[in-house]
Parts: sequence; C-alpha cells; structure tokens
Amino acid sequence: MSKRLSTTVLGVAVLSLVTFGLPATASAAQHTKAERTVTDVVPAPVDAKPDPRANFRLTPASVIRADRDGRQVAEYLAGLLRPATGYRLPVVSDHRGGGAISLETGHAGDRVGTEGYRLKVSSSGVSLRANTDKGLFSGVQTLRQLFPSAIEATTVQKRSWVVSGGTVLDYPRFGYRSAMLDVARHFFTPAQVKLYIDQIAQYKINTLHLHLSDDQGWRIEIKSWPKLATVGGLTAVGGGPGGYYTQDQYTDLVRYAASRHITIVPEIDMPGHTNAAQHSYAELNCDGKPIPARTDIEVGYSSLCINKDITYTFVDDVLRELAAITPGKYLNIGGDEAHATTPEDYQTFAKKVQPIVAKYGKQITGWHDIAKTNPPLSAVPQFWGTTGTDANVAAAAARGNKILMSPANKAYMDMKYHPQTPLGLSWAGFIEVKTGYDWDPATYLQGVTEQNVIGVEAPLWSETLVTSEHIEFMAFPRLPGYAEIGWSPKDSRTWDAYRLRLAKQSPRWVQQGIDFYRSTQVDWE
Ligand code: ACM
Repeated sequence: MSKRLSTTVLGVAVLSLVTFGLPATASAAQHTKAERTVTDVVPAPVDAKPDPRANFRLTPASVIRADRDGRQVAEYLAGLLRPATGYRLPVVSDHRGGGAISLETGHAGDRVGTEGYRLKVSSSGVSLRANTDKGLFSGVQTLRQLFPSAIEATTVQKRSWVVSGGTVLDYPRFGYRSAMLDVARHFFTPAQVKLYIDQIAQYKINTLHLHLSDDQGWRIEIKSWPKLATVGGLTAVGGGPGGYYTQDQYTDLVRYAASRHITIVPEIDMPGHTNAAQHSYAELNCDGKPIPARTDIEVGYSSLCINKDITYTFVDDVLRELAAITPGKYLNIGGDEAHATTPEDYQTFAKKVQPIVAKYGKQITGWHDIAKTNPPLSAVPQFWGTTGTDANVAAAAARGNKILMSPANKAYMDMKYHPQTPLGLSWAGFIEVKTGYDWDPATYLQGVTEQNVIGVEAPLWSETLVTSEHIEFMAFPRLPGYAEIGWSPKDSRTWDAYRLRLAKQSPRWVQQGIDFYRSTQVDWE
C-alpha cells in the first residue's frame, strides 16, 4: 500500500510537471516513458514490435473513435479508461486528426480471422482494426495492458497516461478458451460471477463453463421442476446457505458475459452427481423414496434411475428450458464419475439423452467419460485425466470429435499450489505456476494432436472455495497461463520468458483488488 501511494505521489510531482499540457507530439513522447511494451502482453501476441519513439499520451482532450460495429467495444474501452484518468473520453463516430484511439471494423485481413486484430500505437494516436467487434475486444485487452497499471485504479490518479508505442498483429491459436466455475459445491452470486467474468475477459478467455448442478446443490431455476431450485438449491458443501439463479438472473449473466465476448456453457451433470435433484424429487429415485441432502465432498455415489421413464422426462424438461435461455451452441451434460451407474446403464442413458440435446438445437460437451459412448462427432469431450494415455478419448479424436483439454494435473485451478496452500485439494497433485504453464494441449495426450484439439479450459471446483477472494487466490496467477496456452503460438511460449511477463501483471491485479498467490517462482514487481 505505501509503495503504491509513493508511486502515485511521485507521478504527480514529476510527471505532471514534465508532461501535463504538452501536445501529443513526438517531442512530448520523448519525455514520456512507457511502463510496458507490446512484448510484455499476456497472452503473448503473434507478432509485436515495440517502438519507444511512438509512445502515445492520452490527454483530457482525447476521444475514442468507432464505426457503428465497434461502438459497443469503444464504450467498454471508455468505461475502462475513465475511472483512473478522470477524462471524458467521448465515443465519437467521426474524428479527423490526432489524439484519438480509433476502432475500425472490417478489412483487417484474413490472417486475423474473427478474434484477431491489428494494433498500431503511434505518437499521434492509436489505431485498432479487426474484422469483427470480437476482434476489437481482443485488441482492447491488449491496448489496456500498454497503459500504466494505474489505469486499473477505480479512482482518479493524477499522472500522465503514456501508451507504449509499436505494432501488434494478433490472433488466437485455439477458438475455444474457457474457464469453469463450480457454483454447485458453493454458490456464487451473480455479482461474484460477473466479477470473475471481468477478470477472465482481460486475458481473452472467451468461454465460461458454469457447473450448475451437483450432489450438494442445484443452481438454476427450472420452471417445470421448481423444487430443483427451491429445495435442491438450499444446500452447499459444509452446510452453507446455497442459492440458485432464477432464469432471469441466468439470462442477465449470459448477456453480461456476451458484452465481454464470453459465451456461457451451462452444465447439468448426469447420470451421476445428481443427489441434489434426487433429494428434491423422490420420484427420480428407483425406489421412489426420499433421500437426504448431502453436504460432504464424496463423489461417485449418486445415479439417476436409468430404467424409469420419469428420468427422461426430467432430463428433457431441464435441457429444453436450459437450451431456451442459452444462446451458445453447447450444453454440457456432465457424465463424469458415474461410479454408481453400471457400464451398460451408462450407455443406455447416453443413447437416450444425447438426442435430446440435438432436439433442442444444441451440441454436446461433457467430461471425457462421454467419449466411451460413441457420441455424435459434433460432441466435445473434455479431457480431465492426469496421464498421457486414454484409449477412449484417442478413439473419439480418431473418429473426428474435437477434444477440449483440461488435464487435472496441469489445468485444475482448485489443486493446491504446494502442500501448505490453505485452500484447494491435491488429488491430482500440486500445481505451481510453472507446472500449470509448462505443457502443451497438442502433445499432452497420445493420439490427440493439434487438429484434434478445440481448445483449453481451466476448471475451478469449489469444494473449498467460499468467497471471491478464494476464487482469486486459486485462479491468479495461474489463469493467465492457461489463457496464453490457448491463445499464443506454441513456439512463442517459454517459461523463462513468461515468468518475466507474468511478474509485470501483478501491479494490475493489486489495482484491481485481486487477491493473488505470490508464488516464489516469479519475481513479482
Ligand atoms: C471431474 O473432475 N470430476 C470432472
């Protein structure tokens, strides 16, 4: 805290005298040193060329220029820059001359695709071009990191705002870059989920997988089965209060995520991990008798009743209602750890449930256990194993299914960093920052290579996590590493270079109030 204050005081005393009021010209740029360069950005861009003579200084007179398609992203950028600068930063559609950050949609070239962008920072202004608003949004996250970290402050900082000069050409390696939040073991409010959405969006994560149901709690209102939420939503691990999202709240979350170019993939876990549903409706149990709620962290004991018709009425109703409020193309149907379902029943269940997803116009994702059911080729099994061989997943890849990679011993952010980490579990091992970063999704699993991989996910299970501070402590600093694995070219990634770039992210997290783990593997700024 005192370090942060003294930096600010110095900023006022020195920088304001030197630069305040000067026009944004090359001569002003010579007096203004950027805190970062385009080569410091996380995830690492495809191509970044710094030019210290081209630093741009944002001034109270600066504007953000955007065409119609870029207007929303421009407003988002203005919203990021206004609190700390105190500048007006109007979003305008027509502006000639310097002093502008210009967002332009279209004609950015095939290379940058739908999510990539071209950024040029020169002393007279900033030009960001992309083929889509999604690409502009990616570029804005890069631009944000070219400002001093104080830009993340929520109150006005009296200082100069120098944007690091240079050019960036950038686009992602994989189109599916995901984080998962388990809101079932412990419930997180819509505000907490929105906070996490903002935190992951800055690293160009484009998917949020919400684990909405498990043995300990059901978290989404289903109007045709109301007790799922009003009874099944009452519990959580350890006996806490639980909670659930109304469909309106869920819709609002979907909309909020979309405003950050993030797609929500909802998961209803089945045929196991279903105690909360079966506690809510005794008719879902084979013997029709009520069962108690569970708030412990055992797994593998529950199963839907495979030979009862009502099971499929239930599944159909739930998936129909969920599909209707989920604009994304995927529904996640779980499928993991169904140890209380016989292998024959597991196959029977899959054959009945998979067509329901298609009937409601969606594609399947699920834990990689579904690979053994010969799912449709549009289905995406999510690998969560801990070894480099899995015959069923390799066979699915060979058939043509794309695989989402989240090996538990590399990508599970609920694993402890080391034996003394106060939060988290350790069944898949300890995952220090380097372990989490130093692997590749296209070589981890035998028979699953670059063209078989749809992307990367970093799951965060919440058996031990109750607050947003807990989420942050486990996700940071690991999450930016998974984001980089998903975005950056494979050949551009080395741990030795990454740890230096990662260190420079920490002042941003301090400003954002993110409670991160100060791993000794990184020399934090
Ligand atoms: C899982 O960790 N049970 C997918």
